[in-house]
Amino acid sequence: MLKPEIGDGEATLADPAFRADVLAGFASRPRAIPARWFYDRRGSELFEAITDLPEYYPTRTEAGILESAGPAIADAVGPGRAVVEFGSGSSAKTPLLLRAIAPAAYVPIDISGDFLRQSSAQLAQAFPGLPVLPLEADFMHPIALPEAVAAMPKLGFFPGSTIGNMIPSSSVDLLRAMRMWLGTGAMLLIGMDRIKPAEVLVPAYDDAEGVTAAFNLNLLERINRELGGTIPVDAFRHRALWNDMRARIEMHLEAVRDVAFTIEGRRFELAAGETIHTENSHKYGPRDARILLRAGGWTPIAEWTDAGENFAVILAEAQAARTAP
Ligand code: AVJ
Repeated sequence: MLKPEIGDGEATLADPAFRADVLAGFASRPRAIPARWFYDRRGSELFEAITDLPEYYPTRTEAGILESAGPAIADAVGPGRAVVEFGSGSSAKTPLLLRAIAPAAYVPIDISGDFLRQSSAQLAQAFPGLPVLPLEADFMHPIALPEAVAAMPKLGFFPGSTIGNMIPSSSVDLLRAMRMWLGTGAMLLIGMDRIKPAEVLVPAYDDAEGVTAAFNLNLLERINRELGGTIPVDAFRHRALWNDMRARIEMHLEAVRDVAFTIEGRRFELAAGETIHTENSHKYGPRDARILLRAGGWTPIAEWTDAGENFAVILAEAQAARTAP
């Protein structure tokens, strides 16, 4: 069994859920690891770098939509809501929303704790008087919102097309959970990336500079760092492909040669050409997006896109609990 070296303290602090997902992911076929494990400190920084890449249009496109739709969003949601952001990351787009509406509180939720605390502190400084109540949590599991916002009407904020990371059935589960967490009278502002030609989509996930490759490969580095893995990272390469049948970009890590390594003392092998599936990024046409929301218990009431219709920001309200026609 491989023992972490002295000073390699992280190996003992590993998140048990990360450990379980990695060991199960390497043992299953196809091999797959959930995309949320990209976001350690380094992964979160690399994702921020991705959002600045010329090929990666979603972030700047969505920011442009939020900017120009600000007044219309404010009209539709009204003042005094607690904004609850799912997967807030650096909270880069949040000021656009918070400036446009008159929120009563802001609750950023993220799995990456130190990143969350840092961005919350910056945001609190930029919005004096606004209660900022960060919640370090994985929203793929049940969450409890802070008591302080219990009585306020909520606006869920789920930008970035993060919903695209989930397969449609999990998206519906999450949307229904959000409706429950956010309560009566809640609204949801959600960003979804549109379907477009593979010639545009693939480079967005396989950029010339190799930042997305580094982001994908960092998952292996993280396994080595936190789980005492012995993965030779140079034996893998980044792959991004468009799966047309499932309307999604897939990211994989492909072994470039036969490779064997251990993770927490367990031995794993890949033959040259075998892959680990690390991310899905589903894309939704206009009707796809609206059906997904309705299936998840939300009624779309307004929608904004950029001039090229590359990305959509949709406002929805919690459906009343009736399903009959
Ligand atoms: C943060 C999930 C929206 O799918 O576009 C970017 C993540 N992965 N480049 C996306 C990502 C590779 C991103 N989301």
